Amino acid sequence: MKILFLNGPNLNLLGTREPDKYGNQTLADIENFVKSEAKKLNVEADFYQSNIEGELVTKIQQAKGLYDAIVMNPAAYTHTSVAIRDALLAVSIPTVEIHLSNIHKREEFRKTSLTAPACIGQITGFGVDSYKLGLIAVTDYLKG
Ligand code: DQA
Repeated sequence: MKILFLNGPNLNLLGTREPDKYGNQTLADIENFVKSEAKKLNVEADFYQSNIEGELVTKIQQAKGLYDAIVMNPAAYTHTSVAIRDALLAVSIPTVEIHLSNIHKREEFRKTSLTAPACIGQITGFGVDSYKLGLIAVTDYLKG
């Protein structure tokens, strides 16, 4: 089972970026954590991050046939990207949307996700554990 973890804009700055909201761990720390959790589940996890919407769209398109599922933190594109939503619908790869912070507890504009309707579900507000919960959710989903 191969799972693609997609990370949107500014998540490359985790560790120093607004640590009160996003914690102290870097994206590399999170990647190591997820990969060790994935190993326990006998699952392969790949990580990709981009600040560019089109690159995320291309990665989703290329995931078809390569990955069984996607766990995605679209970051700010959650709230704006019709292109990412359409890409997810186009490839129809089971996807779980995740967020470190609880987007429903923050500014009004963050409460809307354009991407979540193209996903199986959304996990939001558990910090780094949102990544682990996303991994578990999608693995269970694939197992049926
Ligand atoms: C985020 C929440 C988004 O609103 C924000 O733009 C991010 C990170 C999260 O993980 O909490 O960049 O996706």
